[in-house]
Amino acid sequence: MRSFKLLLFIACVFGLAGHAERARAGHKAHGRRQVQTAARAESLFRQSCARCHGLDGRARTELGELTGAPDFADAAWQEGRSGQRMRASIAHGRGGMPSFKDRLSPGEIASLVAYIRGFQKVADQNPRR
Ligand code: HEC
Repeated sequence: MRSFKLLLFIACVFGLAGHAERARAGHKAHGRRQVQTAARAESLFRQSCARCHGLDGRARTELGELTGAPDFADAAWQEGRSGQRMRASIAHGRGGMPSFKDRLSPGEIASLVAYIRGFQKVADQNPRR
């Protein structure tokens, strides 16, 4: 009977340890996925968007000025744009911006919106002089 209890105890400890290990592995995988998504969004932005919007999102490029692309670093501009509206604009185009729905998946478009939100933080740290 004692050895049975001991066995049960050992089984529990290993069972719990295994569970914690799996939970940790899950967290790690999740973190890695987020990093991968962010890296992918950055490379998509460089490929498809930066020629107008600029690598810093401020649209200080020839094409950006020609087409009248907005400054993504402008906090007031960001506040006036919901994520849903931005996703729709990227998918279907708006004004001088072409439609991207044939080239980008909804997931890629959503990751680009998150990436564009990031330009505002950069601006907060480096206010325009
Ligand atoms: C040919 C130039 C050009 C390219 C390439 C381009 N944009 Fe734009 N983008 C614009 C212009 C111009 C506007 C302003 C449209 C307006 O409000 O009339 C704009 C506006 C936007 C807006 C704001 C839309 C809104 O709802 O007000 C987002 C978000 C955006 N672009 C994201 C992107 C992303 C992401 C890409 C790449 C996948 C991209 N753009 C590629 C020119 C471009």
